[in-house]
Amino acid sequence: MRSSWSKKLSLLFGYKIRRNWFLLCLVSVLVLVTLLRPLSTSPRDFDPLAGPRLHDVVVNYRKLKEQAVVDYFDLRYLHSGSNPRQKELPLCGRERENYVPCYNASANLLAGLKDGEEFDRRCELLRDEERCLVRPPKEYKIPLRWPAGRDVIWSGNVKITKDQFLSSGSMTKRMMLLEENQIAFHNDDGLIFDGVKDYSRQLAEMIGLGSDSDFPRAGVQTVLDIGCGFGSFGAHLVSLKVMPVCIAAYELTGGQAQLALERGLPAMIGNFISRQLPYPSLSFDMVHCAQCGIDWDGKDGMFIIEVDRVLKPGGYFVLTSPMIKPEGSLLATKKGNMLTPIEDFTQKICWSLLDQQDETLIWQKTADAQCYAARKKGVPLCPDAHENQPYYFPLAKCIAGSNSKRWIPIHNRSNGVRLTSEELEVHGVQSEDFYEDSENWKSALRNYWSLLTPLIFSDHPKRPGDEDPLPPYNMVRNVMDMNAHYGGFNAALLEGKKSAWVMNVVPVGARKTLALILDQGFAGVLHDWCEPFPTYPRTYDMLHANGLLSHLSSQKCRMMDLFLEMDRILRPEGWVVLSDNVGAIEMARTHASQVRWEARVIDPQNGSDQRLLVCQKPFLRK
Ligand SMILES: *[C@@H]1O[C@H](CO)[C@@H](O)[C@H](O)[C@H]1NC(C)=O
Ligand SMILES: *[C@@H]1O[C@H](CO)[C@@H](O)[C@H](O)[C@H]1NC(C)=O
Ligand SMILES: *[C@@H]1O[C@H](CO)[C@@H](O)[C@H](O)[C@H]1NC(C)=O
Repeated sequence: MRSSWSKKLSLLFGYKIRRNWFLLCLVSVLVLVTLLRPLSTSPRDFDPLAGPRLHDVVVNYRKLKEQAVVDYFDLRYLHSGSNPRQKELPLCGRERENYVPCYNASANLLAGLKDGEEFDRRCELLRDEERCLVRPPKEYKIPLRWPAGRDVIWSGNVKITKDQFLSSGSMTKRMMLLEENQIAFHNDDGLIFDGVKDYSRQLAEMIGLGSDSDFPRAGVQTVLDIGCGFGSFGAHLVSLKVMPVCIAAYELTGGQAQLALERGLPAMIGNFISRQLPYPSLSFDMVHCAQCGIDWDGKDGMFIIEVDRVLKPGGYFVLTSPMIKPEGSLLATKKGNMLTPIEDFTQKICWSLLDQQDETLIWQKTADAQCYAARKKGVPLCPDAHENQPYYFPLAKCIAGSNSKRWIPIHNRSNGVRLTSEELEVHGVQSEDFYEDSENWKSALRNYWSLLTPLIFSDHPKRPGDEDPLPPYNMVRNVMDMNAHYGGFNAALLEGKKSAWVMNVVPVGARKTLALILDQGFAGVLHDWCEPFPTYPRTYDMLHANGLLSHLSSQKCRMMDLFLEMDRILRPEGWVVLSDNVGAIEMARTHASQVRWEARVIDPQNGSDQRLLVCQKPFLRK
């Protein structure tokens, strides 16, 4: 799955190093000189019998080594004819304004993909393209802050055609043009009632709850919303303290994921035409599809099996479609002993149809792992090897997760905000370790938050922990933690009452903590950072990465491409906070200046070799 660009680039990189072998020699000499200097110039400092002094030398050695690496990289840039601090990348042409890599249907068709698979994510077909910065459209305006930005967006910020706009009449999709440059979405406090609240109440009633505010208590904390229209159902779920994650196929115009993100709602580009979603099995409490365009009867039930895979035991599948008519309903045909393909299939995989009302059907996945074996002509269980974190595996015709330690019915979960030590144990995590991590993140967030101000780039920058003036709680809304570990940064933002949601990314090859993140009710996804992230340009207010650069240094991807990708997905005036060791941060600073970010290195001055790099992307209008 490794993309071909990384291979090509590493070849190129290798070539450059060969060309610069003499520089390498030069640097080696420099390293030796700097290392020997403390020994030769002040011999009395070096006493092998004196422990502390030896320790100092070792620390010095490490610092110098890192400095030498940095110098080497600077030298390489100098050699290529310009100062690294000044060599900025050009802006892309206007045709790239809405560029999303890995979704090129015409290239996929040329490569022989068909039957809808041409709309799949294919990063391996990515061409070696010119490096340039994706610029915002001419009309682009900084989005309104949460929660105002949930209901009103700038029409110049999203790509949508008049036709798509006019056909937006359906329940979950209604919107209207306010002023000529604003689009308003109706919530139920608006003048026109859009029915989302009624719809949500109906769903609650159908699963036997008194009101939709009971969703969290009934175990529904996370909802995977396939094809989320313009995000109105998700916006309502957020108000009920349920985490909705919208996935929608890549769309050239009127992208549903783009609209949801523009409104500050969790979303990413995703589909499962031929490959599994990048989530582990048993991840969501509810999967929702309202006119989501999937032919559930198709492909021998493979799409339903994928929904079953990501659903937790006892979780719900909600299907709303105008094809489901009361008179020709599935229930009616069932009475006549004529099962439709979908109804027949859901029985094989131990789902039970809870209810049908109007155009909506709700099934519940079994909470009993033994059920599958008892079904005649059922679907076989997957081999245990499938329980590894799937990264766009091909769809598989088998039932996943039934042997997992994580097979816990949603009704049996503790309802507390925090996971219990038993729940942590299921993930192989010690509770002391987990709580220490979360305490660390609470104090780290206090420091980060005080730094999110342009003042930090002034001549007398703020220091971590400076209180005055503290940025407002709704400074950022869409946040991505590029190396989320246990999700501690997300938890700290919630605890600090910031109005942010976090896309918690667990990098391929890092510790497998995604299930733990999702089980806390957070949004999360597995991702290989050597590839572009499946989202539209300008969709995040803040990118955060702790230790990601040093993690990636062992992989074969090019840092510059990572920074370009970060720049693509970051909104103008958005923030980047990187923490890592000195060497990685120095390198990152060079790249940050190439993508034209304002950047400042912060030394916590606590004797560690950790540094922070705080950056802000400028709003380039030209
Ligand atoms: C998509 O692929 C085609 C064929 O390879 C190419 O001509 C076109 O420029 C590509 N489009 C984008 C946006 O990269
Ligand atoms: C879940 O809870 C029910 C009662 O609410 C109980 O009967 C059942 O044994 C529990 N299941 C598990 C797997 O803990
Ligand atoms: C120093 O601060 C950094 C960043 O805040 C932190 O990651 C590190 O653990 C601290 N080190 C020590 C020794 O306190």
